[in-house]
Amino acid sequence: RGVSRRRLLGGGAAALGATGLGWGIHAVAERVDPTAAIDGGLTEPFFGTHQAGIATPVQAHAQFVGLDLRPGARAATLIGILKVWTDDAARLANGAPALADTEPELAAAPARLTVTIGLGSGAFAAADVVGDQPPWLRPLPAFPIDKLDDGWGQTDLLLQVCADDQMAVAHAVRVLLKNVRSLVTVRWSQHGFRHARRSHPEGTTMRNLMGQVDGTVNPDPATDFDELVWDDGAGVPWLAGGTSLVLRRIRMELDTWEEIDRSGRELIVGRTLDTGAPLTGSSENDAPDFAATDRYGIPVIPPSSHIARAQPFGDRERFHRRAYNYDDAPGPGQTSNSGLIFAAYQRDVDAQFRPVQQRLAEFDALNQWTTPIGSAVYAIPPGVTSVEDYLGSSLLD
Ligand code: HEM
Repeated sequence: RGVSRRRLLGGGAAALGATGLGWGIHAVAERVDPTAAIDGGLTEPFFGTHQAGIATPVQAHAQFVGLDLRPGARAATLIGILKVWTDDAARLANGAPALADTEPELAAAPARLTVTIGLGSGAFAAADVVGDQPPWLRPLPAFPIDKLDDGWGQTDLLLQVCADDQMAVAHAVRVLLKNVRSLVTVRWSQHGFRHARRSHPEGTTMRNLMGQVDGTVNPDPATDFDELVWDDGAGVPWLAGGTSLVLRRIRMELDTWEEIDRSGRELIVGRTLDTGAPLTGSSENDAPDFAATDRYGIPVIPPSSHIARAQPFGDRERFHRRAYNYDDAPGPGQTSNSGLIFAAYQRDVDAQFRPVQQRLAEFDALNQWTTPIGSAVYAIPPGVTSVEDYLGSSLLD
């Protein structure tokens, strides 16, 4: 109050200029083209052999919603829900209102909206198709690092809604929920975010709230997904084209993380904070050299570092990470409530994800500053290729 916006901004710019950062801010401002086309109208295809929202270039916002079927639900209930969701999702992804959309204007800017549906083991039990459940669809073993809260735990159903605009996400979630609200209850809803679209050049790897470049080493959808992510139906025929999702909510202990100096933080992960390059390289995509030692014979990338422990031991231990940050209201006496909504997609949880998580739980230098508080596993049915079909039909028809 009493200080004009102009003075505040001017003072800020002057202060930044003095440290040399002012130049960067000015340069960004000049690059913004006010006449450029808006991004709200961009769409991602809904129809396809795989569900959208997995190989899709990651959108800025996500809402993961965990739902339970109400008691008495049966196969017909589940089919009804999945038919409604398929129809809603197809329309909304295309920028069209859902049937009986009470706020049709909110559907007009889908901003690359995707809706991805997952099934927990409770859905198989309700529909009496437990025999068709993939063998890996069960809770992960209890890890000593876990402090799991069932409030973020396994649910019967999952909705993953992503878009570059939180308005599109919120509207889609509301539509999807209200149309089935007599059949389900919501256990949790997790909002995740990344850098806003066009705040950074296209393809920039996100940063997490610890400041790290996060998501560098990941399979390539064009060349690796058929082998690592999409199920081929050999073991579980109905799942051909589908996959699995492991969703872990991991709290970051930022108060103590910030006490570590910069080089200490880099040693904990094994990568630099400025570019995300491995400690043995100079740019983000350089391959880490885990054998390199310094002149005293000490490994440059500590064997206890996060990337040394998380790297695949053998070809099968790879999966697709598509994580989001969360930053929610702090509890009483806290100053932050932040972390990662860690989402990993793979054909086979037991062969690909579990050994890596097991190794990290046994030892990972990062563990002291991260705490898993939620965990759930879902089967992600294949996509649909026509309006007559619905998500989950290969299991339930
Ligand atoms: C790599 C952060 C949890 C698996 C990385 C990297 C960072 C990071 C900064 C290096 C850049 C990159 O390749 O993405 C975190 C944080 C976590 C977390 C802050 C928790 C809050 C996990 C969990 C798993 C995991 C739970 C799996 C169980 C991996 C893998 C890599 C990786 C596989 C790539 C390793 C390689 O270089 O081959 N993580 N991570 N991370 N992380 Fe995590």
